Formats: sequence, structure tokens, C-alpha cells
Amino acid sequence: MAGYTSIALGALLLLSCAAWGSATVYTVGGSSGWNTGINYTDWTSGKTFTVGDSLLFNYATGAHTVTEVNSGDYDSCSSSNAISSETNGPTTIQLKTTGTRYYICSISGHCGLGMKVAVTVGSSGSPSTPPPPSTSTPSPPSSTTNGNHSSAPGLAPASAVASLAGLVVLLF
Ligand SMILES: *[C@@H]1O[C@H](CO)[C@@H](O)[C@H](O)[C@H]1NC(C)=O
Ligand SMILES: *[C@@H]1O[C@H](CO)[C@@H](O)[C@H](O)[C@H]1NC(C)=O
Repeated sequence: MAGYTSIALGALLLLSCAAWGSATVYTVGGSSGWNTGINYTDWTSGKTFTVGDSLLFNYATGAHTVTEVNSGDYDSCSSSNAISSETNGPTTIQLKTTGTRYYICSISGHCGLGMKVAVTVGSSGSPSTPPPPSTSTPSPPSSTTNGNHSSAPGLAPASAVASLAGLVVLLF
């Protein structure tokens, strides 16, 4: 019985892991990380950010900052009215609410060198991209040239199931 219980618990654990799998961690800039000389507008294009996702800014402490600013300061590369600022790399930012977030590097000149990223966060309840239409190619019918199908192959799996069931009954 103990074995059966742990199997059931394991299945439950797997299920809850699958449920958590919807939250995505986006590494800002991909393998380039948080750095000068990168076009982060290009990086965000085509990505969908939703509440529950997070941004991972990869940089060395002291080299850069992750400073959240308003849209006007984002445009002008000003960090004087910063909403928040992280200086210890790497930095993970949780996207907890919908709306557009603006992040720049507050180190002099870096924002002008491209270190600015705007992320629009959508509701997690919004429908995700629909699955691609299933282009189901009909599987070719099994060989019909030989109409001599004995019933023996069909019986084999059935009897296997029957003996398995017997085994389970024996175990309990
Ligand atoms: C980033 O690339 C886009 C087009 O992909 C362009 O419109 C934009 O000006 C670029 N930004 C910078 C800072 O070069
Ligand atoms: C069908 O099976 C029988 C006996 O197993 C065999 O003699 C016969 O040749 C088979 N026919 C075909 C079409 O395979």
C-alpha cells in the first residue's frame, strides 16, 4: 500500500509542476545579456509577457544597473526619477501587474548605448496563442492484401491485461 500511495503522490506532484510551467523566465537580451550595443526593441519583438513571468537581467555587479523609470524618462534616458533600481547582478524582476515597464541602465551613457528595454505585460487570463491547426494526415490503411486475419493477435494483449489484473488483485 505504501508503494501505491507514493506513486499517487508522485503523479500529483508531476501535475502541479505542469501547472507551474506556464510562468516563463525571460533572459533579457538572450545570450548577450544586459549590455551596451544591443537592440532590446528587437529582443522584445515577437515575445509575449504575461503576469507571473519574470525578467532575468544578466550582468556583473557594478557594471550596470536595472533601473525602472517612467516612459518619459525611458525616452530621454533619465534615471533621476527612478521607480526602483537594482545594482547587484544578475537581477530577476517579477512581472506582477499588467502594463508597460521601462528599464534602463542608470550608468552614465549606457542607456544611450542601447541599454533600455520596454516590456508590455499582459494579463495571464488572456487567451494564449491558439494551437496551430492540426494538419492530420490520414494514416494509410493497414495492409488489406491479406484478408486472412486470424483472431489470435487480438487475443494476446487482452490476455496480458487479464493476467495483469489478476496480479493486481493478488497484490491487494
Ligand atoms: C532597433 O531595431 C529597430 C528595428 O528592428 C529599429 O527601428 C530601432 O531604431 C533600433 N533601435 C536602435 C536603438 O538602434
Ligand atoms: C490464411 O491462413 C491459412 C491458415 O493459417 C492459410 O492456409 C492460408 O494460406 C492463408 N491465406 C492467406 C490469403 O494468407
